Amino acid sequence: MNDSIGEIRSLFEPESVAVIGASKNESKIGFKILQNIIVGGFKGEVYPVNPQGGEILGKKVYTSAEEIGCRVDLATICVPAKFVFSALESLAKVGARYVSIITSGFSEVGNCEEEKKIVDFAKANNMRILGPNIFGVYSAGSSLNATFGPKEILAGDVAIVTQSGALGLAMIGKTAVENIGLSSIVSVGNKTDVDEADVLEYLMHHDDTKVIMLYLEGVSRGERFVAALKRATKLKPVVVIKSGRSKRGAMAAASHTGSLAGSDEVFDCIMKQCGAIRAESLKDAFDWCKFFCSSVLPKGNNAVIITNGGGIGVLATDASEKYGIELYDNAEEMKRIFADATPDFGSLKNPIDITGQATPEDYNSALKAALEDEHISTVMSLYCETAVFTAESLISVVEKNTALYAGKKPLVFCLVGGENTEQCITKFKREGAPVFSDVYEAVSCLGALYRQYENTVRVDKEPKDADIDLAKINAIVDGALADNRSFLLAHEGQAVMSAAGIRVPQSKNVTSVEQAVETAEGIGYPLVMKVVSRDILHKSDAGGVVLNIQNADEVKSAYESIMTKCRAYKADADIEGIEVVEMVKPGKELIVGARKDESFGPTVMVGQGGIYVEVMKDVTFRYASMSECEVRSMIESIKAYPLLTGVRGEAPSDVDMVVDAIVKLCAIIRKCDSITDIEINPVMVYAQGKGGMAVDVRVLIK
Ligand code: COA
Repeated sequence: MNDSIGEIRSLFEPESVAVIGASKNESKIGFKILQNIIVGGFKGEVYPVNPQGGEILGKKVYTSAEEIGCRVDLATICVPAKFVFSALESLAKVGARYVSIITSGFSEVGNCEEEKKIVDFAKANNMRILGPNIFGVYSAGSSLNATFGPKEILAGDVAIVTQSGALGLAMIGKTAVENIGLSSIVSVGNKTDVDEADVLEYLMHHDDTKVIMLYLEGVSRGERFVAALKRATKLKPVVVIKSGRSKRGAMAAASHTGSLAGSDEVFDCIMKQCGAIRAESLKDAFDWCKFFCSSVLPKGNNAVIITNGGGIGVLATDASEKYGIELYDNAEEMKRIFADATPDFGSLKNPIDITGQATPEDYNSALKAALEDEHISTVMSLYCETAVFTAESLISVVEKNTALYAGKKPLVFCLVGGENTEQCITKFKREGAPVFSDVYEAVSCLGALYRQYENTVRVDKEPKDADIDLAKINAIVDGALADNRSFLLAHEGQAVMSAAGIRVPQSKNVTSVEQAVETAEGIGYPLVMKVVSRDILHKSDAGGVVLNIQNADEVKSAYESIMTKCRAYKADADIEGIEVVEMVKPGKELIVGARKDESFGPTVMVGQGGIYVEVMKDVTFRYASMSECEVRSMIESIKAYPLLTGVRGEAPSDVDMVVDAIVKLCAIIRKCDSITDIEINPVMVYAQGKGGMAVDVRVLIK
């Protein structure tokens, strides 16, 4: 067992277990849990606790936790909510380490106060709380079934962590049907203390766990979660399913970006950033977990399809593109590898078509050629039932090749045909062989494998930090807060950018025509003039913006026009002055933003900017702590990225400037407590070496 697992080990590998609320009544949860612990074969000490004492299932019953008289590693509480706190007080006296609270009736029904009281007490007494509102914990290595789920759980390599209790219990049943063995299953429920990050800490180093499956409804303490998940995915696959897409409204209210930052999109992007493999359905999640247990990871990107039918080969090609699997394309090498195994009228291009008259021997020789060649990393073998040979004859092909090669490189079979074929598939599925009835199912499993392969080659570099003038930024924000504002005025937003070292158009606020002319002459033409007033949000509608001002006369008339029109638009508006600002040259328009996400904390976004940003929805999000390399790949992941590389003879854009701006926004959103949202739209990006600038900056504060 790995040594880096730490104190969380007591939850999964306790030496003693108490059941508070153990009952003789066979219909009660307190009986079922005790029974599961005993029937499951737990080797450590078991202490049933019930005020009536006596004996249950041959075990002495203690009348209170204090009567146990020695330290308990794991106590499972299954008494009604109103008795939980006193049970905890008794457990504190014997020094319980982990307390698994099965009981419902806490924060999930609004009883937050009692839950807080419990967790505060536990913290003060060095106890950790699992739950409340859970079904418990199962750990194969300790033969511990401290759940009120099924008595018998198939032991194996998959660990499940679930927020939903009922679904978690159902998953235990489902894994048995699917022949998936569990190394552990833990229900985290209300996550008042122990959460996914704690559990990942154990499971990532747990030698008997090959794959981790997380069922989430929401993320709390996102920063810890991101850190743990990132480390976990380097070590083993983490398959994530999430339901309960959270309130868009709350996000949308904050800023313009809010409506783009539907929390599920943020979640999805951050899962990818962490290397977690997100499944949309339970079926995919189970298929992938099972496949991860039986297959090795690929050692490269070159996959080959071997088929006796052109159509199914094309389907597999489409599926490969969908699931991000690169097909081997080297025509010369393919000829060399497969010439002897393919008839003259077959195809030596990927997919390799060994034709409808292929025999089991032909499959064996084509598979041998593919599986033994070092250039090929993964093999998909497709079979359409023909009269040439029956599905039964294919059994030996599958058995022989999986026995010889499945441990060496990923290999899947997809069989399509009638009843005999279906029977073969059922037999193989039961045995856990990589045999599928649908091409997309097979290829989606391979896709998951490839995502994990990418994790293994991923180089995690130190997050890049930026040197920003935090004192100056905080002073600007504090000024606005003192002014009772929840946003910064345009010039304040620009001043924040300048303090972070992000270039903004030169500008100055003026309060007279003379000042306007003097400032304009200093900045140079062309210029823009805009009204400055917290009472006028839509400046253009109010006639408060004049563009493309070319000389001093135009400055004067723009000044008069803005003042007159804005006063007419809103007579009682407090007009603080007029902003004279450098007119921005056109470039590639991006949107860059940062926000404190409700679940994850500091996040950043980048996307195609300009006025169509919400229509295009070409934006991506990340947790705001990234190496420079990650920032670059974030930018590369937006659909508009090719526009930055220079199309139709255009010069490539200054991507370095965008990287730099994102790194700086990460620093602002992480370090400046009072800034909740920043949105720069557009960031005007010029040709390589010419930089860019933040044109329109909005900052929300709290
Ligand atoms: N210490 C030890 N035993 C105690 C006790 C204490 N402080 N207080 C009460 N008990 C005993 C009771 O006497 C009873 O034993 P008995 O059958 O011998 O009389 C036993 O504990 C259970 O108490 P009871 O009042 O009968 O409760 P219950 O079994 O009907 O319900 C829960 C208890 C925890 C199951 C219930 O409150 C609950 O929360 N159910 C929902 C659970 C759930 O769905 N969790 C989420 C799953 S995903």
